[in-house]
Order: sequence, then C-alpha cells, then structure tokens
Amino acid sequence: MAKILDFKNEIKEDEMKQAAASIVNGKLVVFPTETVYGIGANGLDENAVNKIFEAKGRASDNPLILHISDKKMLDSLVQNVGEIEYKLMDKFWPGPLTIIMDKNVVVPYNVTAGLDTVAIRMPENEIALKLIEETNLPIAAPSANISGKPSGTNINDIIDELNEKVDIIIDGGDTKIGLESTVVRVIDNVPVILRPGKITPEDIKQLVGCVKIDKNVYIKPEKDIKVLSPGMKYKHYAPNSKCLLICSDDNENIVNSINKLLEKNSDKNIIVLSTTENVEKYKAETIFDLGSNKNYEEISRRIFSLLRKVDKYNPDLVIIEGVKKEGIGIAIMNRLIRACAYNILEC
Ligand code: TXA
Ligand code: MG
Repeated sequence: MAKILDFKNEIKEDEMKQAAASIVNGKLVVFPTETVYGIGANGLDENAVNKIFEAKGRASDNPLILHISDKKMLDSLVQNVGEIEYKLMDKFWPGPLTIIMDKNVVVPYNVTAGLDTVAIRMPENEIALKLIEETNLPIAAPSANISGKPSGTNINDIIDELNEKVDIIIDGGDTKIGLESTVVRVIDNVPVILRPGKITPEDIKQLVGCVKIDKNVYIKPEKDIKVLSPGMKYKHYAPNSKCLLICSDDNENIVNSINKLLEKNSDKNIIVLSTTENVEKYKAETIFDLGSNKNYEEISRRIFSLLRKVDKYNPDLVIIEGVKKEGIGIAIMNRLIRACAYNILEC
C-alpha cells in the first residue's frame, strides 16, 4: 500500500524530503501538477522508468514526459533547441505546455520509447516544482492512471486505482486544469500540436505567428502508420461502459437527438453527461452535470472524474454532449472522441 502525504494545505518539509529520497532511490511517487496527477520516477534511471510502464500497464512504445523545475536542467537533456522552442518556453513555462526536442545521451531510451526526441515540461504547481528541485533530477511522469483509463485528477480516484502500485501518493487536492498538457513539436519552423490542451492553437499562433494541429487530434490513426505522437494510437480516457458522443453546432439539435435516443431506448440504463444548461431538458434517470457550456474550464476540470464515475452505475450506454471545437473545447473534444472510441453521432 502506498504512503499518502497530505500536502493539500501546506507542504510538509520533512515529508517532501522523504518523497524526494524515494524518487532518488528508484521508487514511484504520484504527485499533483496543474493539469492532472503524474506517476513520477527518476527520469535518468532506466530501472525506475521501467517501473512506471509496469505500474500503468503502458505500451513500451509510448514515450514519457520529463518534468523539470528550472530551464537550467534543459542543457543536459536536449540539443539543437531552436528559437521557436525557446520562445514557447519563455512564454508558457511553468505551465501546461510540453515541448518535444532532440534528446541528449543521458536520457534513457525507455523514457523516449526508442525515439531520438524527448518531451519536456515545467509544471506550474508548487508541490511538483519543489519535488523536482529537491531531487535535482528530471522526473519522468505519465498521467496517473492505468493505461487506457481517464487520467487521475483527484486523490480518491488515484488511491482507488494506484494504491497498490506505487510507493508514495502526494495529495495536493483536485487539479486546477483537469486535462493533460498541450504537446507541441516544432517541424520546419512551425509548431505542430500533437495533443491539444489548455494552451490553445490561438495562444501559440499569437506568439509565433503560425501553428498546425496534427490530424490525429480528431481522427483515428490508421493501423501500422507511424504517428507523430505515439500516445494517440492507444485507447485512452475510456470508461468500461459504451459511450456515444453527440455533436452539433446547434444546441437544440443536440438536445432533440439525445431525447430521441432516450425515448427509443427507454428499457435501457442510460447515463447522460449534459452541460448544466441542458440538465433539466432530458428525461433520463441518471444525468451528470458536465459544467456550463459557457465555461469550458469547468468542463475540463470535471470531465475525467465523471468518465470514471459512470462505470460505478454499470450503464448500457453513456450519452455525452459534445462541445464546440474552440479554445480549450478542442482539447475537451479530443478526449471525448477517444473516450467514446470514435463512436460519434453528428446531428
Ligand atoms: O499534463 C501532462 O502532460 C501530464 C502531467 C502528469 O504532466 N502528463 C501526461 O503524460 O499526460 P502522458 O504520458 O499520459 O502523455 C504524454 C503524451 C503521450 O501522448 C506521448 O505519446 C507523448 O506525450 N509523447 C511523449 N514523448 C513524445 C515524443 N518524444 N514524441 C512525440 N510524442 C511524445
Ligand atoms: Mg496519459
């Protein structure tokens, strides 16, 4: 069983030292970031990194992110860093942006899943930054969940799933953003978004003047085709229950389509994930409130814990309202599309 450290209200110095020593000694420590919780290990220790893959049941060809607390740590980890990458880190670090760069020899190949590039990010969370600082090591950390499941954003979900698999779990309260970082790689001087997040294409375009969104953000990668971000190949964010995503630019269309489905399947146990404004409009027994359709930040914060909660009801079907692919809505839709295993009804 993991030791739980409660840092919700304050960081306890002696326990922080203990957590850092565990990382240095090759153990696994779950820690909060501003996006989601991560399962951390010494990013320069191949054996410790292997333990992450084992604990998550993660495919060995899906690389990890190294978390740093200071740009000075970069010099040893990466090379050939261009002007655009520096611009991005100056503007968005610490914060929810992961940048893919050419790796240096010290980075073990199991961190990068055999690639010559490595993903780096500096989280904007006091506990995470202190932990990295205290270890003086880059911490390799994927999202805190068993592979395929929604990422862990609160302590109860994490204890439920990872208590037996890690050494220490640091409780830092609910995560602020709730969706994982934006992952970007600069290709031919253009930042390409491989995974959307809180930092939007518009944010990056404003800074650099151009941006691209990788096609696999919305479309299922073809089998056996090499993808820019290996994580996009795998099932992710998915409840065990079958999910259906309902999409339209018109809210009334969404409501009508869902009500029709509910009528047609009145003998079935269906859960609706509805925006706050629509909750009263459905005749379903179980409705979960996603948050306001005027506040996508709220939806981001809630989405993963709701996707976990549905399985407790063992429904025949989960129907989820889509949102607009704007701002952080791009990231929400990327996660929902995959939670629904590309099972989408456009109406
Ligand atoms: O917000 C986050 O990014 C969280 C917190 C804990 O920092 N971490 C996270 O890690 O979401 P993970 O492992 O669940 O997702 C990392 C993503 C995967 O889709 C992976 O394929 C991609 O980043 N990635 C990592 N290294 C890469 C590389 N060298 N090239 C392309 N994609 C890479
Ligand atoms: Mg993940």
